Amino acid sequence: MRKKITVVGAGNVGATVAQRAAERNYADIVLVDIVEGLPQGKALDMLEAGPVIGYDSLITGTNSYEETANSSVVVITSGLARKPGMSRDDLVRANQTIISSVTEQVAKYSPDAIIVVVTNPLDAMAQLAFSVSKFPKNHVVGMAGVLDTARFRSFLAAELNVSVRDVQAYVIGGHGDTMIPLTKMTTIAGVPVTQLISEDRLAQIVQRTRDGGAEIVNYLKTGSAYYAPSASVMEMVDAIMLDQKRILPCSAYLQGEYGIHDLFVGVPVKLGASGIEQVVEVELSDGDRAALQRSANAVKEIVEVMGI
Ligand code: LAC
Repeated sequence: MRKKITVVGAGNVGATVAQRAAERNYADIVLVDIVEGLPQGKALDMLEAGPVIGYDSLITGTNSYEETANSSVVVITSGLARKPGMSRDDLVRANQTIISSVTEQVAKYSPDAIIVVVTNPLDAMAQLAFSVSKFPKNHVVGMAGVLDTARFRSFLAAELNVSVRDVQAYVIGGHGDTMIPLTKMTTIAGVPVTQLISEDRLAQIVQRTRDGGAEIVNYLKTGSAYYAPSASVMEMVDAIMLDQKRILPCSAYLQGEYGIHDLFVGVPVKLGASGIEQVVEVELSDGDRAALQRSANAVKEIVEVMGI
């Protein structure tokens, strides 16, 4: 039997994740949403693309969780997206209700799954899914750092007119205004970026990275980004499904690592078949360490709003 990936939420992010996952051709896909007809219609449309693209993945759309049973990976994208002028944190209360009920269903039908949380405010929603599912900490991971890093890498590649493949970078911290692009660890084909871009210009690129989500929201007006978010989710899903042991910046439950306790925050982790197989502790400068602590405090404030 082929492995199963469930995607909860058939909006732009969820549907694009389902499409990208189907095209990987290594698992069957179940797309779930509460809106009747939406997951069924999108799933059937994707299934019918299979003969043309050349994949055999079965794609099922459903409004119930029974068909998600025994998924290896469950990607949770449901919830409200940001509207212009709305911060990620404004979403917390609305999405708390949604993510709690989704997670209960996911945990009931796929007790061994690895949950990848995508809903904002990201780190707080990952913490909520961890708390509601009662899964082991390595089985709940949040997607944000890969996306933030992809944005940072895109902007650096454009600035220097080089391939994005030669830009190595990490963005850590909470997915929000306090995220930390680690400029001192960013290299272009092994050369520290600080030797290639002036401090002022680098600061502008860092700020554009922090505002990357809002930049897209402002263009789209209704809805937020989904191409880069879904691509980022799939880099993590690949790492888990194919046991790649990738080192990727993800939101992980920290218990003392980086001096942070009992909180989801973005840090480099090793992702493989068991989910988060290791939190990778890299040596940070004093400034970056303090920035990470500030970012953790910002996440903690949102978690406290939820009262979990
Ligand atoms: C973004 C929003 C969705 O970063 O958080 O695109």
